[in-house]
Amino acid sequence: MAQIIDGKAIAAQIKDELKEKTAKLKEKGVAIALAVIQVGNDPASSVYVRNKKNACAYIGIQSLSYELPEETSQEELLALIQKLNADSQVNGILVQLPVPKHIDEDVIIRAISPEKDVDGFHPASVGAMSIGQKGFLSCTPAGVIQLLKRSGIEIEGKECVVLGRSNIVGKPMAMLLLRENGTVTITHSRTRNLKEVTKRADILVAALGKPKFITEDYVKEGAVVIDVGIHRQEDGKLCGDVDFEQVVDKVHAITPVPGGVGPMTIAMLMNNCVESAQRTV
Ligand code: GUN
Repeated sequence: MAQIIDGKAIAAQIKDELKEKTAKLKEKGVAIALAVIQVGNDPASSVYVRNKKNACAYIGIQSLSYELPEETSQEELLALIQKLNADSQVNGILVQLPVPKHIDEDVIIRAISPEKDVDGFHPASVGAMSIGQKGFLSCTPAGVIQLLKRSGIEIEGKECVVLGRSNIVGKPMAMLLLRENGTVTITHSRTRNLKEVTKRADILVAALGKPKFITEDYVKEGAVVIDVGIHRQEDGKLCGDVDFEQVVDKVHAITPVPGGVGPMTIAMLMNNCVESAQRTV
């Protein structure tokens, strides 16, 4: 029987730990505030933003909500970010992505002070992570590392294969696995003999964005499979990049979708907010 890695339970445990830390900081007179900015009203973004605010409320972090209209200009958004950068009461700034097309996402990410970049998207955060220096870690990959560690899965010396090379997941995921002394391969759309590569993996992280792409013949017997994908199927149900039903009997451990990696992203965002406040003490 495969171990089903319960991301919901592990995220709940992390949030409870953070709730305690937040209460202790409060006793010392340190309050934590996260500014959450959404431009426009993309329905999926609204769900994510609501979940982030709910997590803040649970832990005891104040969320400062900025719901800006779709037609907000880049200059207006930059002005708000500058104001929040300068506000010592604000520990973290999050701009929910994607932003509308007339706004340059890279410019926005660079405008957020690295000290408040709780998403870990700023080039300074990515650079610091790559050379093992202090900085905020990108939340989803950091969540995957926590899932593995808290499930008793060792990374050191293991063959780790990351499918996908996005800036938000694939690349930072590979860097973090490397930092844990994994032997890391990244695959992408131009990779040849993909199945041969993925079948070498002791730890396979699927972040390629294709529903149920990873079938039984991509996976080695006894591997650990982490599914970062999330897709809405025609029947309304959610699925990941991995064909769970096909793969589950072959593996040592696997994350479900939903309830695997997803809840960890918010837990790690909350962790970054608490860390940001701790740095001010
Ligand atoms: N859009 C999808 N995922 C994320 C995330 O982790 N952070 C932000 N800011 N936007 C997103």
